Amino acid sequence: MTAIEQVLTLVRPDILALTAYSSARKESKGWRASPEPSRWVWLDANENPETPSAHKPLLNRYPEPQPADLVAQLAALYGVAPAQVLVTRGSDEGLDLLLRTFCRAGQDAILITPPTYGMYVVAAGIQGARTVAVPLVREQNFALNATAILKAVTPEVKLVFLCSPNNPTGGLLARDAVLSLVNSLAGRAVVVVDEAYVDFSGQPSLATAIAAHPNLVVLRTLSKAYGLAGARVGTTIADPVVIAVLQKVIAPYPVPTPVLSAALAALTPAGLAAAHESAAMLVTERTRLAAALAKLPAVRRVWPSDANFLLVEVADSTKAMAAGRAAGVIWRDRSKDVPNSIRITVGTAEENNSTLEVLSRA
Ligand SMILES: Cc1ncc(COP(=O)(O)O)c(C=O)c1O
Repeated sequence: MTAIEQVLTLVRPDILALTAYSSARKESKGWRASPEPSRWVWLDANENPETPSAHKPLLNRYPEPQPADLVAQLAALYGVAPAQVLVTRGSDEGLDLLLRTFCRAGQDAILITPPTYGMYVVAAGIQGARTVAVPLVREQNFALNATAILKAVTPEVKLVFLCSPNNPTGGLLARDAVLSLVNSLAGRAVVVVDEAYVDFSGQPSLATAIAAHPNLVVLRTLSKAYGLAGARVGTTIADPVVIAVLQKVIAPYPVPTPVLSAALAALTPAGLAAAHESAAMLVTERTRLAAALAKLPAVRRVWPSDANFLLVEVADSTKAMAAGRAAGVIWRDRSKDVPNSIRITVGTAEENNSTLEVLSRA
């Protein structure tokens, strides 16, 4: 069996057998791409012929299911082939699609490495999949426990979610350790690496390794470094065969027309330059904020971060959070993950000064 055939054995059999919904836009794709799309009379999708409110841009037409120009731009951005790209409503939709595609309710499971992003368990719960947890090793800067993960991957575990840089701890997972897991799990499970914060790490993405490892999936997003959290643009990067299966599960029109415009504007040379400048500013501020926080009496530890936030252990997180709220500065209490810890997003220099000011008095 080839590597990709092995991956297909992990997909829910009913999804493999499912005939995907064929939307009007999909069926008319060839004609739409013709040199003169305006010469056709479009009466195939039960659309209104006009946008009565004269809203601009006109929104009476359904969007392309996977807009070719956005797919091409995202593929170029991430250094992969367009066929390896699926545009989703944020990366949250990408991980939900993976759950629904690979896990049979009441039978299958996912593996997570806590403390980590909370949506993996929620998406698993919604799908009726069990969650197996193999904690990161705190004493080793929240590193993967590869031996324990390999032991915990029973035949029911279809997806292994790794978050790098990890939310809420902030650090990258060692690339070699991740790739070695992907290798060891070939034919047994799909490894999903959530790289929502990788743009702040200065390190290369694992996306280019997918060509050699079809059981690897990478999630990226425009929500963080590209500042488009409100637009909801995520990218699932996977082997083209896996993308084709996910296409069966995704809603027919996941990229609204105004979102497409916002994403394309962010991906122009000027948009990309602005995003790089913004990420560089946040990385500089992260260094300054971490150093200044470490000097405060209320702060016990600042964990190293490759992301746009810092996990900070304080003397008393309830007291610190209350002080923040009283001053109108809102952080995230992560004590349930790491005792007495708060997660502080890196903001503008002025916002970071507010954080420092409040915590210096806490
Ligand atoms: C690790 C991680 N993955 C995914 C997401 C969801 O991002 P998106 O806005 O792309 O849905 C978040 C959001 O905070 C996150 O922290």
